[in-house]
Amino acid sequence: MDATPALDARALTNSQAPWDSFDPEAYLEHNYRTLRADDRQILAAVRDHFTAHFEQRPAAGLRGLDVGAGTNLYPSLAMLPWCERITLFERSSANVGWLEAAVREYGTNWDPFWEVLCEQPAYRGLPDPRARLREAAEVVRGDLFAELDLPERAADIGTMFFVAESLSTDYDEYRGAVGRFARALRPGAPFAVAFMENSTGYAVGGETFPACKIEQPDVLNGLQGYAEDDLTISHIDVPGSSPLRDGYSGMLLALGRLRG
Ligand SMILES: C[S@@+](CC[C@H](N)C(=O)[O-])C[C@H]1O[C@@H](n2cnc3c(N)ncnc32)[C@H](O)[C@@H]1O
Repeated sequence: MDATPALDARALTNSQAPWDSFDPEAYLEHNYRTLRADDRQILAAVRDHFTAHFEQRPAAGLRGLDVGAGTNLYPSLAMLPWCERITLFERSSANVGWLEAAVREYGTNWDPFWEVLCEQPAYRGLPDPRARLREAAEVVRGDLFAELDLPERAADIGTMFFVAESLSTDYDEYRGAVGRFARALRPGAPFAVAFMENSTGYAVGGETFPACKIEQPDVLNGLQGYAEDDLTISHIDVPGSSPLRDGYSGMLLALGRLRG
């Protein structure tokens, strides 16, 4: 997710952007210090998607995967009731350091996120989510474009939030990232993927990061070849009083299951 006023990021491919200089504290402060209305809406939809999936197909002890975790723990929290192991996969050494500390004892800013999840009984059934995340989380440094870093067909449930469109200005890399995420999942795996709509790049701390300007048809085109027919894509409006920044027009949330 984006962090400061709109800017005209120059064309940057994924390997050209300064990922190791990503400032985790600045990003967390701007995006996740408090629970925003748009994140609440996304979190509730993801919670209900995973809950409905596992009500029909009960499961436990699964392998979860969050690609490009950054400093966002709520995708992992949303997978927690069903997972024995959750891989938080991340390219930036700075974000890997932040994640390693955060999964040991996450901050109280995440408690309101957990409260939203607890509106469903599967989450309420976990009395100590901090201990559970500590046991389940595995932080892995890697590049999603590197075949050996992100194993194929290894995850039973997966998330990727604000990554595919927020790692490059190159549309082919956007498509490639969606494909790499999909291929990391096993057939039938439920997934949630969130996107910034029409983002033109973002600044975190003093650094500028690239984004690829995408809209709903791009999300559909990217995912539909990998997803079962019940794929849904929702638009999450910019909250009127507190846009994250100028230069984007909302968020998009894709919920589905990997094609069997
Ligand atoms: C806009 S941030 C999103 C972070 C987080 N998922 C969220 O929801 O806020 C993009 C993240 O993608 C990571 N990233 C960029 N290129 C990557 C790559 N090739 N492989 C894995 N992660 C990458 C960045 O380091 C950063 O943490």
